[in-house]
Amino acid sequence: LLIAVISDVHSNLEALETCLKKIEEIKTDRVVCLGDMVDYCAQPNECIELLRKKSDVILLGNHDEAQFVHELSKTFSENAYISSVYTRGILRDDHLDFFRKIPRDYILENIYFVHSSPYLPDYYKYVLTEEMAINNFNYFEQEICFIGHSHIPKIFEYKFGCVKVVNAENIKKGNKYIINAGSVGQPRDGDYRTCFCTFDTEKFELIYYRLDYDAKKASEKIYKEGLPEYLAERILVGK
Ligand SMILES: [Fe+2]
Repeated sequence: LLIAVISDVHSNLEALETCLKKIEEIKTDRVVCLGDMVDYCAQPNECIELLRKKSDVILLGNHDEAQFVHELSKTFSENAYISSVYTRGILRDDHLDFFRKIPRDYILENIYFVHSSPYLPDYYKYVLTEEMAINNFNYFEQEICFIGHSHIPKIFEYKFGCVKVVNAENIKKGNKYIINAGSVGQPRDGDYRTCFCTFDTEKFELIYYRLDYDAKKASEKIYKEGLPEYLAERILVGK
């Protein structure tokens, strides 16, 4: 099975369309979206509509949950809070109903999918370092766990009780992995290009895709909507 994993689209239509076009070219068997469909960029409704058409599974992210659990947005940074309120003002009712129904995690073959972390998935903790990753390996039984949330593509390998960060070429059947799929709509690893990955369950092969897209257009839309300027600037540099 060839699975495309997309995460953290964050209302960035230009980035999403670019990734979906590539996914159609690759002809994956499944598309799994790890949540955070909304906030930061300007087109939540368009992105959700497209995701609902093109994904097989969509999981709940903290920004999606904040649309119906409003107190959650008060734990966000100021810019994130402002964009959450913006999304609330324009989000279609059918999309909001959809958010209330989607699951927090999903299992397919020997893969576990969740937005933030296997340990306390509804607490939305980050998995950024080996130290943060190690405890999480106790909370899923599958060989692989795909996560999003940090917007930083990264692979944690668990072997003989130790965790280390490895490259996609080095993953091997027999070890356990936590794999961050990166972010479609707001990468934060210093590379502005949109990001997603594919996993081939038969070949046990992971491939990250980094694609150029019209970030300038997405950025201009953020300015035009009167959202914080920082949000318009950061997608141009991937910070
Ligand atoms: Fe996110």
